[in-house]
Amino acid sequence: MSLGNTERQFGPVARALHWLSALLVVAAIGLIESHDFFEKGSSARSLTAILHMQAGALVLVLTLPRLFWRFTQVLPSITPPPPAWQNGLAHAMHFVFYALLLALPLSGIAMRQAHGDVVTLLGVSLPALIAPNDDLHETLESLHELMGNAMILLVLAHVAAAVVHHRIQRDDTLTRMLPPRR
Ligand code: HEM
Ligand code: HEM
Repeated sequence: MSLGNTERQFGPVARALHWLSALLVVAAIGLIESHDFFEKGSSARSLTAILHMQAGALVLVLTLPRLFWRFTQVLPSITPPPPAWQNGLAHAMHFVFYALLLALPLSGIAMRQAHGDVVTLLGVSLPALIAPNDDLHETLESLHELMGNAMILLVLAHVAAAVVHHRIQRDDTLTRMLPPRR
């Protein structure tokens, strides 16, 4: 069994990286958005924040090998081919996705470090790249929230596009990203 992509199908490595990142991104968003259901200072509220940060930092760990894989593998073509404008739009959206998959975790980590916190990933402390600084903390917090909201909109548009391709255009955009049928 080949681990790489073929001309028609994303391979197991690309699929695993995509679906695992998708799960972590949805978990990170769901956890932080559920934050407000819990009282300030409660342990449930801190737990949602801690799990948000862990899921978010793991996204960064997956995105680095994912980008390497993306640029060393063939991109499977879609059958029947969509119009050129759709391909252009999809490429632009994927570019923004990759930029956010890097910038969101990095800004989140930098935001906490500018606040003076030690950020850990699975119990290991990450090196402090930024000294505590209140102004920088606030700027990074606004930036992180802005990018987080952009990510929510992008995910919704991305899922809608996958459904339109599958149900209306009836092409293999989605099935290329699923395990091949026997
Ligand atoms: C929730 C977080 C998600 C993120 C961050 C994400 C990110 C991405 C990215 C960056 C690509 C581009 C792959 C490439 O380099 O060519 C991609 C492709 C794709 N994703 Fe997602 N995805 C998410 C969720 C989903 C979901 C829930 C679905 C299905 C309903 C889905 C279906 C697809 C499909 C079908 C492709 C291939 C599209 C194409 O080649 O034009 N994704 N995704
Ligand atoms: C893919 C990764 C990530 C995504 C998609 C994401 C997304 C979000 C979203 C949507 C919010 C809520 C914004 C709002 O209130 O409007 C948020 C807040 C927050 N994020 Fe992330 N985040 C990610 C990674 C991280 C990481 C790695 C950290 C820290 C290590 C972090 C720390 C925080 C904190 C502390 C808040 C709350 C800010 C506040 O008090 O308002 N995030 N994030």
